[in-house]
Amino acid sequence: MTPPPRGLAALLLSAAAGVCSAQPNLDLGKAEYEASCASCHGASGKGDGAVAPHLIRRPADLTAIAARNGGVFPSQLVWEVIDGRGSREIGPHGSREMPIWGVQYRLQAIQLGQGGVPEWYVRGRIVALLDYLARLQAK
Ligand code: HEC
Repeated sequence: MTPPPRGLAALLLSAAAGVCSAQPNLDLGKAEYEASCASCHGASGKGDGAVAPHLIRRPADLTAIAARNGGVFPSQLVWEVIDGRGSREIGPHGSREMPIWGVQYRLQAIQLGQGGVPEWYVRGRIVALLDYLARLQAK
């Protein structure tokens, strides 16, 4: 038996590794941010998205949340802001410009027919976003 050529073995191994690592390496928080938030807050998170000039209020710089909070990332507060369902700003005239993500994700869960409790889908999205935003904080 002759051993397989080294080059080919190495190539097959690296291809297999590529296939195996594609799924676990999916950054759900980043993907969700790019799909739902970057239009306003910008790809960098600094608040310079394409939609920003059309808003009355400037989208917040999401890379400086910790800096604005004494160096600590306020997870609970950011969770509530993103979810939005508890916001007192939701009035009949909707002064809040941030979409109410708690409602949006709930509708998405129902439309996608996720099965299970729609609220789990909502939490999954928000947890992934919190994880991503925490990583975005300027050091
Ligand atoms: C339609 C534009 C728009 C989109 C889309 C949007 N935001 Fe916002 N966001 C804003 C604006 C404007 C503010 C500033 C305050 C306000 O009007 O509520 C804000 C404020 C925030 C804040 C508060 C920051 C602070 O320190 O006060 C967080 C956190 C945030 N957004 C996260 C997100 C996340 C996460 C997403 C995506 C799931 C998102 N935003 C999508 C417009 C948007």
